[in-house]
Amino acid sequence: MIAGAPAAGKGTQCAKIVEKYGLVHISVGDLLRAEVAAGTPAGKKAKSFMDNGDLVPNEVVVEMVKNKLGEDAVQQNGWLLDGYPRSGEQAEAIEKEGIRPDVFLLINVPDELLIDRVVGRRSDPETGEIYHLTFKPPPPEIVSRLVQRSDDTEEKAVNRLRTYHANVDAVVGYYKDQLVEIDGTLTMNEVFTKIQMAISAKAVAV
Ligand code: AP5
Repeated sequence: MIAGAPAAGKGTQCAKIVEKYGLVHISVGDLLRAEVAAGTPAGKKAKSFMDNGDLVPNEVVVEMVKNKLGEDAVQQNGWLLDGYPRSGEQAEAIEKEGIRPDVFLLINVPDELLIDRVVGRRSDPETGEIYHLTFKPPPPEIVSRLVQRSDDTEEKAVNRLRTYHANVDAVVGYYKDQLVEIDGTLTMNEVFTKIQMAISAKAVAV
């Protein structure tokens, strides 16, 4: 599992983890955005919560995650759960199913750095690659096709951060034995080095 505040670098690191370890990346934010884009009933329910930076209700999220974790490819290759659980109730829901991570990575970045990361983020709809206008500038030839998430404004980021801080302790409480805290203020490659060390150490332990 990987957790951290909005724009802490979860998605950036998940791409690297998946490339190296071959796990199936389950990003709850991405799953929800796909439901919104497709106009499904779940997406219609989720949209206003996401726009406000609030947690989408458990009735939408929990079954979605359980179903995804049950897929064949996930069972065969292992999973990397990004953005779940985000509350004590969500952790409890998968505890009941006997679902536990080998490692719980918590990427720590002070709030004052996160707003810049949020507003400067752009992503490439063709490749899924995440860029930042300052910290990871995109190649000039693709700039015109990049998109900005609708919740990536300073105002919305403030509430996303509030929601994160209100819930993170309850979530971490479930995974004390698997917890590894990572300094997310380091460069993207340095953060990944720390993550690989954490995974190696925990993999030996399990
Ligand atoms: P979600 O999509 O999960 O958003 P989030 O948690 O706010 O996280 P982000 O995707 O914004 O950031 P990230 O940590 O992946 O950072 P990134 O790598 O892109 O969730 C969106 C919404 O969906 C929620 O608000 C909620 O409404 C709903 N939702 C999701 N899960 C839910 C759940 N379980 N229950 C209920 N509702 C749920 O990096 C950010 C930027 O920083 C990029 O530009 C990147 O290039 C840059 N960057 C990354 N690392 C570094 C670094 N080390 N140094 C400098 N820049 C860096």
